[in-house]
Amino acid sequence: MTSITGSRPKILVTRRQFQDQVDRLNEVSDALVLDRPAPATPNELQVAATGAHGIFAHITDTIDAAAMDAAGPNLKVIAEFGVGYDNIDVDAASERNIVVANTPGVLTEAAADFGFTMIQTAGRRIAESDRFVRRGDWKWFEPLDLLGVDIYGSTLGIVGFGRIGSAVARRALGSGMNVIYVTRSQPEDDLGCERVGTLNELLERSDFVTLHCPLTQETNGLIGTEELKRMKPEASLINTARGPIVNTDALTAALRDGEIAYAALDVTDPEPIPTDHPLVKMENVTLVPHIASATIGARRKMSEMTVDNILATIAGKLPPNCVNADRINWG
Ligand code: DGY
Repeated sequence: MTSITGSRPKILVTRRQFQDQVDRLNEVSDALVLDRPAPATPNELQVAATGAHGIFAHITDTIDAAAMDAAGPNLKVIAEFGVGYDNIDVDAASERNIVVANTPGVLTEAAADFGFTMIQTAGRRIAESDRFVRRGDWKWFEPLDLLGVDIYGSTLGIVGFGRIGSAVARRALGSGMNVIYVTRSQPEDDLGCERVGTLNELLERSDFVTLHCPLTQETNGLIGTEELKRMKPEASLINTARGPIVNTDALTAALRDGEIAYAALDVTDPEPIPTDHPLVKMENVTLVPHIASATIGARRKMSEMTVDNILATIAGKLPPNCVNADRINWG
């Protein structure tokens, strides 16, 4: 990978971003920011990407081979604003010698705070209680209404024990939960939590199941009808990872039929979930709009890291967080 010489490179920023980071891009390149209320359609994205050397991408963008080819041979880097990059076809990028980069680490604590908040939200029926008050149904203190389940002493099953999963475990241990997990690779430090042999065992033993694995071919539809049936009827499912890891129809049926008690979802499939979807009408569901990393601190650092990744690549250097470094010809 050589640095770009001649005219100033074009960087497409697909959504509105922190201005100081756009300014950093503009010091050495021409940033085209798509400052619109809605994400670009695939067609709009292809038009905007034409001639770009870099794309500052977001989860709402489908960066496939067609988008890369529309950008053309200048394209050297696709930098994702986020840790998950399932919206980018990494194989297609690698075949075209295009660097793909992401923002791991800087959002871990914010995402873990939020994941643990969702466990408490589910267990203590926070959203449902809020709706109860707003509807005017709260007349007096009721000893037997809106009873949740104890967080303290319950078992949390974590699917995916990477950075965010283990940071959730730290919080759960601090709250007196028993933590069990399944994960693909051996964690360096599992904080003394119990690694269980199979996903089924985790589902059967957990009072709360929280998902922290990436969306891949293997995890697409990981939680479906059979898996939900294995969960305890009083258990909750928390998804702050990616919507398609859970089969939405199966989850809707499981919640309706009392196979599980509650779901707290930061991500859904489809996303956004249509407002007339049955899940939206259910009391035993909390739905929030993909905000696990949405703190000022985390989002600022994500923006900065995305720009770092772009600036390094266009200067001909290995970016700090390249996900396909071993497939790039750096010569
Ligand atoms: C992430 O970092 O993956 C968030 O979900 C935003 O895409």
